[in-house]
Amino acid sequence: MIESKGWNWKIVKDEKEKIWKNPSIESYYLLNRWKSQNKRYFLDLGCGLGRHSILFGKNEFNVSCFDISQEAIDRTKEWAKKENLEFDYKIGDMLKLPYNDEQFDCIYCRNVISHTDTEGIKQIIRELDRVMKHDGECYLTLGSKDTWGFKQNNWPLIDENTRLRMEEGPEYKVPHFYVDYNLAKQLFSNFKIINIHQEIDYYEKQNGTTESYHYHILIQKH
Ligand SMILES: C[S@@+](CC[C@H](N)C(=O)[O-])C[C@H]1O[C@@H](n2cnc3c(N)ncnc32)[C@H](O)[C@@H]1O
Repeated sequence: MIESKGWNWKIVKDEKEKIWKNPSIESYYLLNRWKSQNKRYFLDLGCGLGRHSILFGKNEFNVSCFDISQEAIDRTKEWAKKENLEFDYKIGDMLKLPYNDEQFDCIYCRNVISHTDTEGIKQIIRELDRVMKHDGECYLTLGSKDTWGFKQNNWPLIDENTRLRMEEGPEYKVPHFYVDYNLAKQLFSNFKIINIHQEIDYYEKQNGTTESYHYHILIQKH
């Protein structure tokens, strides 16, 4: 299994930081959904700068923040302090979660669990299953094999589904695992898949438009 590597958040500042402090669109839907289901114990797995921890914390969820990056946890802590919010913080590797069995009602992991290889993803999904309560839900995203990153034939291929990202920036040399629809379905066959869809994000860069494809998946533990 490939060695885990977190993001280098130290270089994410100013305009880039603003993007990562703004909750993602679907988080408002999930907030309403999980509130109406009376869910309470929320795990922000791979919390980054804490944008979803803050959103759920402000809405009275009991929040646990987890990341492999010390910088991510420090900056989430600093932000939460300014907002007068108290969270639980842990630094670690998602391959082995430092939580009890069935501790969480809901887990949020946007663009996180794909930072491993094929063997790693199976272990992480077993960990998610273990820490989720019965009827608990987890929202996650996975990179699609249709996306440009998977098609970079000059980036090291770790296994048939995984490449090392070689673009300069916070994800330099971080592993990326990619799926197609059938592989995504197979990975979550022990869960009820409530929703799965593929989304395209468009980014304007100096040399033109980049399209980034991700699967967005909402699962429930039987
Ligand atoms: C793309 S960022 C997403 C941050 C956050 N989920 C958000 O939407 O703002 C991915 C995060 O996953 C963390 N990460 C990567 N590998 C990890 C691992 N093995 N264990 C725990 N966290 C990890 C990174 O450090 C980074 O903070």
